Amino acid sequence: MYPEKSLPEFQKSMSDLFNAAIPLNNRVLEIMARGLNLEDQFYFVERHSWVGTKRSQTALRSFYYPSLADVKIKENQVRCGEHWDYGGITILFQDKQSGLEKHRVMIPADHIDLDRQSIAFFGNPDNDAVLECIDQSNKYPPTTIIDLLNMKYEQTTTKKPNSRTY
Ligand SMILES: [Fe+2]
Repeated sequence: MYPEKSLPEFQKSMSDLFNAAIPLNNRVLEIMARGLNLEDQFYFVERHSWVGTKRSQTALRSFYYPSLADVKIKENQVRCGEHWDYGGITILFQDKQSGLEKHRVMIPADHIDLDRQSIAFFGNPDNDAVLECIDQSNKYPPTTIIDLLNMKYEQTTTKKPNSRTY
């Protein structure tokens, strides 16, 4: 759902950014395959054929962290706790505000009164792509991407307070 009345250009801008990020995502995937010395340098790219359709969970998300100038901040409080993203590659577009480190978003003391805006492209392999050990070791049982994502989402939404479930 887009704010069509208040920001009529927002949907097109987000759609344009999404479409521009796809070839960047594919280029990074190709470089990863080359770095792993895979015989097929498009091994990962070929598993991202359905980006932009319902057969892929690839998504562009906007994250807005408002100014905390009028908020009492607890010691060691963060904007977003440490975590890892479940899918393939995350490409982060952000404004000039610092704070992102090791998959968490800090609150730098000199930035408390500043908003933070970022947009993340979460590149996911196709829903039916099979995640398996690339070295054929079968260290972990093969699973489809959609089954993995559903399992991770379920773990996240059913976790008990103060538990660390990734
Ligand atoms: Fe993340």
